[in-house]
Amino acid sequence: MTRRAVVIGAGHYLPERIVENAEFEATLDTSDEWIRSRSGIERRHFAAEGETTSHMATHAAKAALKSAGRTAADVDAIVVATSTPDLTFPSAATMVQSQLGMTSGFAFDVQAVCAGFVYALTNANALIVSGQADRVLVIGAETFSRIMDWTDRSTCVLFGDGAGAVLLEAQEGEGTSADRGILATDLNSDGRYQDLLYVDGGVSTQTTGHLRMQGNQVFRHAVEKLAATAHTALDKAGIAATDVDWIVPHQANIRIIQGTAKKMALPMDKVVVTVQDHGNTSAASIPLALSVGVERGQIKPGDLLVTEAIGGGLAWGAVVLRW
Ligand code: UT7
Repeated sequence: MTRRAVVIGAGHYLPERIVENAEFEATLDTSDEWIRSRSGIERRHFAAEGETTSHMATHAAKAALKSAGRTAADVDAIVVATSTPDLTFPSAATMVQSQLGMTSGFAFDVQAVCAGFVYALTNANALIVSGQADRVLVIGAETFSRIMDWTDRSTCVLFGDGAGAVLLEAQEGEGTSADRGILATDLNSDGRYQDLLYVDGGVSTQTTGHLRMQGNQVFRHAVEKLAATAHTALDKAGIAATDVDWIVPHQANIRIIQGTAKKMALPMDKVVVTVQDHGNTSAASIPLALSVGVERGQIKPGDLLVTEAIGGGLAWGAVVLRW
């Protein structure tokens, strides 16, 4: 028998305020047509004043617990993937822990920008497989609207706020690729590319800073690296790409999503796409897409999924799991 980390519930939260592309036309030299055709984004949600990453993460966590039929008392650990925590410390995860009313277990954040959820899932899987936890809430939550330079049209039209969560539970599998749960993961980073996507501020420089991106450079790396990491993870799991039911990609740009699917020789009707409605929500984008994919009736128990993401670092990776 093999201990597996199985997703038993998913949920998400989006802030109330929806901003359509056309709203940017009033303040920037841009157009709905440019944003739509270059990125696939049509609208995004922005957090209300005072609404923070931990608030959104807690809403998503509650929705995931509800869908799993579990309560916070059943949770051993919380891992929050975020680059936009409420405070420098403590972690957003410990804030979620207290907002859920938990007084035991442990909680910590993972910071790998847009690849954060893939990194968090990998860490949570290790906690479960090694026997340190039986149930782990894995959350991606971001308020990227707080680090936008609203005068920079090449970045501020691309990002949005939101949160998504899954509850992982230890279950016994046969040790084959037919098992439910996480079957393989693949993580990578290359700090030589840190100048391609970064925030020009931080604690040790006593500034907050704004997101800076050389979009076309990141684009080039994304298509090449995402397909490669997805194939590596599939190889580790002993699964052929043709057996994949759903690619659930990081939702940054429809052209990257299409390019990756093409490189994997999979049709777009096997891809969960939410970028048009959420924009790029960084670490929140994959759990948001998972939860929306379940809600839409796309992702069903037993389906084989590949998630893949790339972001600042550069950091990238993929997770293969059977839902
Ligand atoms: O989530 C983390 C990973 N991030 C990503 O995956 C993002 C990756 N990059 C992208 O998605 C794309 O590169 C962008 C959507 C950011 C940009 O698309 P692009 O096709 O690579 O365009 P570009 O950056 O090469 O810019 C083309 C033109 C430029 O004008 P010139 O120099 O050709 O005259 C830009 O100044 O488009 C201009 N431009 C805009 N025009 C209207 C840039 N932003 C805008 C805008 N509206 N908002």
